[in-house]
Amino acid sequence: MSAIARPKNLWLGRWGFVLAATGSSVGLGNIWKFPYMTGEYGGGAFVLVYLLCIVAVGVPVMMAEVAVGRRGRGSPVDAIRRVAREAGRSGLWSALGWMAMLCGFMILSFYVVVAGWSVSYLWKSLSGGLQADSVAGMAAIFEANNANPWNLGFWSTLVTLATMSIVGLGVQGGIERSVRWMMPGLVLMLAVMIVYAMFSGGFAAGVDFLFAFEFGKLSGAGVLAAMGHAFFTLSLASGAILTYGAYLPETQSIWRTTLTVAICDTLVALMAGLAIFPVIFANGMDPDSGPGLIFMSLPLAFQQMPLGGVVEVIFFLMLAVAALTSAISMIEATVAWLNESHGIPRRRAAWGVGIVLWLVSTLAMLSFNLGAEWKWGGRHVFDWLDFLTSRLMMPLGGLGMAVLAGFLLRREAMRDELGLPATLFTAWRLVIRYISPLAILVVFLDALGWLGGGFDWRWLLAVPLAGLVVEGLSARRTGDRQA
Ligand code: PFF
Repeated sequence: MSAIARPKNLWLGRWGFVLAATGSSVGLGNIWKFPYMTGEYGGGAFVLVYLLCIVAVGVPVMMAEVAVGRRGRGSPVDAIRRVAREAGRSGLWSALGWMAMLCGFMILSFYVVVAGWSVSYLWKSLSGGLQADSVAGMAAIFEANNANPWNLGFWSTLVTLATMSIVGLGVQGGIERSVRWMMPGLVLMLAVMIVYAMFSGGFAAGVDFLFAFEFGKLSGAGVLAAMGHAFFTLSLASGAILTYGAYLPETQSIWRTTLTVAICDTLVALMAGLAIFPVIFANGMDPDSGPGLIFMSLPLAFQQMPLGGVVEVIFFLMLAVAALTSAISMIEATVAWLNESHGIPRRRAAWGVGIVLWLVSTLAMLSFNLGAEWKWGGRHVFDWLDFLTSRLMMPLGGLGMAVLAGFLLRREAMRDELGLPATLFTAWRLVIRYISPLAILVVFLDALGWLGGGFDWRWLLAVPLAGLVVEGLSARRTGDRQA
C-alpha cells in the first residue's frame, strides 16, 4: 500500500485499467504508423528490432510509469513530486511530469488531424466518395481532402469535440464506460479484417514480408525509428499511462496488467500488418508508399476486391475508434491536474483545455493547406509537433523516468508497487538502470544529429554488456563492504 496519498478516482471494473490503457496504446500508431514504417524500413528485420525495443525499453519504462502513478496517486506533476519527496529527492523532479503533460497535449494537437483523416475517410467510404482507378487518383482524393481548410478543420474539430466530451464525463463515467464497448468492438473489427485478408490471396506474401527477418535490410535509421515508435505506441512519457496508473486499485498487479497491455498493443500492431499487407500484395502494390499507405493504396486495393466496400467501412471505423481511445488518454493528465491541483470542475477543465487544443491543432491542420509555406527549419507546424514529441520529448521523458525509477526512488518502494517475483524484479532493475537509459540516449543523440546519421546499430549490443559489468562491479563492492 502506498504511504502517500489516498486515491480519489479508481477504475471500477476489474478490466478498467487494462481496457483503458490498451485503448491508449492501440491507436493510429499501430494501424497507420507501424505498417507504413515496416514497409519503409524493409519488413521483418524492422519488426524484430521493434519487438526488442518493446521488451528492453518499452515494457520496463511502462511498468515504472504505472508504479509511479499508483504510488503518487495523481496527475504526472503531482504524482512524481510525491514519490520523489517520499524518497527524499527534490520535488523538482515534477518537471518530468510537466514535460509529459505538455508532450501529451502536443501529440494530441497533430493526432486529431490524422484522426480527422480517418473519420473523413469513414464518411467517404460510406458515401461512395473513395473511387479512383489508380494510386495517383487516390492521392488526388487525399490531397483534395487536405486542401480545403474548412473540410479538414471540420473533421479534426469533430474528433476534438468527441475527445473532450468523453474526458469531461470523468474517469469512470466517461473514459471507462466508453472503452468498455469500444475496445471489444475494435478487436471484433480487426478479426473481420484478418479473416478477409486470409482469403485475399496475398496472405502468404504478407506473412513473409512481416516475419522474414532479413538483417541485410536493417539500417541505423530503422533501429532508431523502431525505438522511437516503441515509445509512441505504448503511450509512454506523455502522461497517459502514468495517469491511468494512478487510478489502478491496490489489489491489482502492476506487472501483470502492464504486461497484458504491452502484449495486446504488440499483437494489434502485428495483426494490423497482417490485415493490411496481404490486401496490398494481392493487388500487386508496393508496401513502401509511406504515410499514405492506408489512405491511398489500401482503399484502391479494397475497391478491386469482392466485398471490399464493406470491409473498407469496417477498416476506417476501426481506425477512428482506435484513434479516439488514444486521444482521450493524451489529455486526461492535463484535465486531472487542473481538476485535482486547481479544483477546477472536470467538465470545465476539459472544455477549457479543449479550446486551447483546438487552436493549436488548427495550426497543425493548416500545415496541409493555407499554412503549407509556413516552415521553420524545413518543417511546418504538424511536422514540428511530431518531431519534438517523438524524437525529443518522449526519449528525454523516458530517460528521466528510467533514472528516477532505477536510481532515485527507493528500491523497496518500486518492489512493493510492481509486485514482481524476486528474480524478475532484479532483471527489471538491471534493465531500467542500464539497458533502457543507454538505448534511449543513443536515440536522443541521434535525433539531435550528434551521431551524424551514420549510426551503426551494432553498437547497441555494447549497452547490455556495459550494464552487466557495472552491475557486477557494484555487487562486488557492496559484497566487500558487507564482508
Ligand atoms: N499509443 C498511441 C498510438 O499508438 O497511436 C499514441 C499515443 C497515445 C501517444 C497516448 C501518447 C499518448 F499519451
